[in-house]
Amino acid sequence: MLLIYKEKISSWDWYEAESVISTNDAVKEEVSPLGENIIISAIHQTGGRGRRGKNWQEIVGNLYFTYTQEASAQELSKIVCIIGLSLAKVIKALSPQSDVKIKWPNDVFLEGKKMSGILIENIKENIWAIGIGINVEGAPKLEGTNYQATSLKENGIELDRTEILRYYLNQFSEDMEEYRRNGFKNIRAQWLQMARNYHQIITVKTEKETKEGIFEDLDGNGYLILKTQQGEERIIAGDLFV
Ligand code: BTN
Repeated sequence: MLLIYKEKISSWDWYEAESVISTNDAVKEEVSPLGENIIISAIHQTGGRGRRGKNWQEIVGNLYFTYTQEASAQELSKIVCIIGLSLAKVIKALSPQSDVKIKWPNDVFLEGKKMSGILIENIKENIWAIGIGINVEGAPKLEGTNYQATSLKENGIELDRTEILRYYLNQFSEDMEEYRRNGFKNIRAQWLQMARNYHQIITVKTEKETKEGIFEDLDGNGYLILKTQQGEERIIAGDLFV
């Protein structure tokens, strides 16, 4: 894989490839030769992976990148929320009149449609690969979901993919600094302000079961608090439906 060094963004060294199978795999492979603070973006991603074994379709001009982040397994659920919040804040800043929401824990929705996907995988010990796909130029036709996808372009946000990458990583690094300095409190408040389906009836599909209830709150770990007929439940991981 030929990687071109681009520049330093915050504490990361950013490299770009013309084509990779998956930027998450590229980061996993390159982390020992290149160091633990890297970003790899790709112009083409031929075998992009999504969550739950789905694939992530390539559309020319869209943004595909993965970066490394250190986090203990115990704080990961908070960082998962920060990732979505930082991205939502960037999109809101680029288009203040648009409706930008975060679907728990970190899918960003623009005007009610999904515009990005995030896949977090462990590299080793406390080092994680955070892979993000952003629909810059175009959106795929989604099947089997009760929502559609959209792109930034469709919403009048015309920006080079690399600009979005810079904005995002700077915002994420600012939000992580806030979290490291003051804890999760402010982040949680900001996250809730942008939450999709907050205080509404939702269905959450976890690995084991499907539960219905009211999206009551986000707790201090970034877990979803669901008010069901049996009482309050904390959801650590799952997919949310309306
Ligand atoms: C989802 O299912 O919503 C998550 C999709 C994550 C896609 C991104 S694109 C960059 C990185 N490389 C991958 O193979 N997947 C992630």
